[in-house]
Amino acid sequence: MYIYFIKSQNKMKQIVLTFLSFFIMSTVSAQNKTLVAYFSASGVTKKVATELATVANADLHEIKPAQAYTNADLDWHNKQSRSSVEMSDKKSRPAITDKLANMSDYQTVYVGFPIWWYTAPTIINTFFESYDFSGKTVYLFATSGGSTIDKAVKDLKAAYPKINIKSGRLLNYAGKNELQEFVGK
Ligand SMILES: Cc1cc2nc3c(=O)[nH]c(=O)nc-3n(C[C@H](O)[C@H](O)[C@H](O)COP(=O)(O)O)c2cc1C
Repeated sequence: MYIYFIKSQNKMKQIVLTFLSFFIMSTVSAQNKTLVAYFSASGVTKKVATELATVANADLHEIKPAQAYTNADLDWHNKQSRSSVEMSDKKSRPAITDKLANMSDYQTVYVGFPIWWYTAPTIINTFFESYDFSGKTVYLFATSGGSTIDKAVKDLKAAYPKINIKSGRLLNYAGKNELQEFVGK
């Protein structure tokens, strides 16, 4: 009887330990996930974001404007176009749709965008203000017609001093090797 009691106690311990280790493992792995989030108006950043997600073994998420940008919206020659109006208003925060439900799962977040007027489109501000980034590490990447990413990095670091924004890289012509180097693999 006593031996049976000891045996069943051990069995119980085993079961509890198994459950506990599953729980710890799933919590740890959930917090170690990597996300590649991108905004792309005409597909260039989307392409590199998709490749980056594969190389980084990350989930891919589109930062999707509630109202898609038309060609007329993107006309930077026109001061009245939507993008010109948004970019000349520091308070502009274009609405985002299809928000991510599980941002808390990610510890590392790559945020990609096209350079607009030498910096990040204001929808990227909407993105940073839509989630809790505490404890996360953020890397920026961009595509452009030739401008660097430097001003975007400077502007976003200044706007969000509490977010751990590490660095940024222009990935205009990035091949697999550069992407691997960027993600440290
Ligand atoms: C409104 C607007 C402003 C832009 N401003 C710049 C700029 O300041 N410097 C630059 O090199 N390219 C600029 N571009 C070009 C884009 O950065 C470039 O085409 C980018 O790769 C587009 O990415 P996407 O296809 O993901 O939207 C601008 C494009 C648009 C639509």
